Amino acid sequence: MSKSDVSDKKVALVTGALGGIGTAICEKLVTSGYHVIATLSQEDPERTKKWCEDNGFDSNNFEFLAVDLSNHETAMAAIQQTIDKYDSIYALINGAGITRDSSFKKMSFAQWQQVIETNLTSLYTIVHPVFVKMLEQKTGRIVNISSINGLRGQYGQTNYSAAKAGIIGFTKALAYEGASSSVTANVVAPGYTYTPMVESVPEHIMDKIKETIPMSRLASAKEIAAACMYLISEDAIFVTGETISVNGGQYMS
Ligand SMILES: NC(=O)c1ccc[n+]([C@@H]2O[C@H](COP(=O)([O-])OP(=O)(O)OC[C@H]3O[C@@H](n4cnc5c(N)ncnc54)[C@H](OP(=O)(O)O)[C@@H]3O)[C@@H](O)[C@H]2O)c1
Repeated sequence: MSKSDVSDKKVALVTGALGGIGTAICEKLVTSGYHVIATLSQEDPERTKKWCEDNGFDSNNFEFLAVDLSNHETAMAAIQQTIDKYDSIYALINGAGITRDSSFKKMSFAQWQQVIETNLTSLYTIVHPVFVKMLEQKTGRIVNISSINGLRGQYGQTNYSAAKAGIIGFTKALAYEGASSSVTANVVAPGYTYTPMVESVPEHIMDKIKETIPMSRLASAKEIAAACMYLISEDAIFVTGETISVNGGQYMS
């Protein structure tokens, strides 16, 4: 895809694009006329083809970028090379994330490190090159996806909660640095959301979880995507360093 092919479109980069929430974000972006640079963790043309077919997406609206965000040097070089092809990157939405749950007592250093590297350290890898470009452009929107469990903590998720809380601190600090260049940085903090990440939770445990949610249900991925779309909209130009919770009232910070 050359610069001229997408010159009439705003460009958005989405990490974890093929995941549950990422797919809903991509759907809203292409419907709103964006060209999307969609990252996945490994090169897989069959997968991206099927993903487009399953979701009714025109593949011409996407550039797929295979980057393992836990591999800093390779990933950062690939991201830099890709964004250099575009005149501007209007929005960056970071949805890539993993869980490796365990009580802290039993948690291995590998479980700790994988989650911190993939969910938090990766923000340097992805945001740094894009942020520098946005500062030059004097416009840009960054949305980082945290979690309710980064705000309140969760048993068995010291690694995940630490990373997701770190995302919020990172975003607030970045918001200061982007403000004079009209680059905003915000967080969306989902509560439990219907995606592959939670589909494996047994039904009886899910029923217990729902009892703790005032709205008695999980979020849909579309509801998380809608909050992201607000934060990259013209209406949100004066909103920066903020965290929007989308959790049915489960935790009000
Ligand atoms: N679902 C929930 O209830 C919930 C609640 C709160 C917060 N969140 C957060 O929302 C975000 C999206 O979650 P989801 O439910 O949509 O999960 P998901 O379907 O598992 O998607 C997560 C995505 O992260 C990508 N990813 C994982 N490791 C990566 C790596 N090393 N390099 C590059 N990409 C990597 C995966 O890409 P590949 O598929 O290409 O491997 C995957 O598409 C996550 O940050 C999650 O923590 C989810």
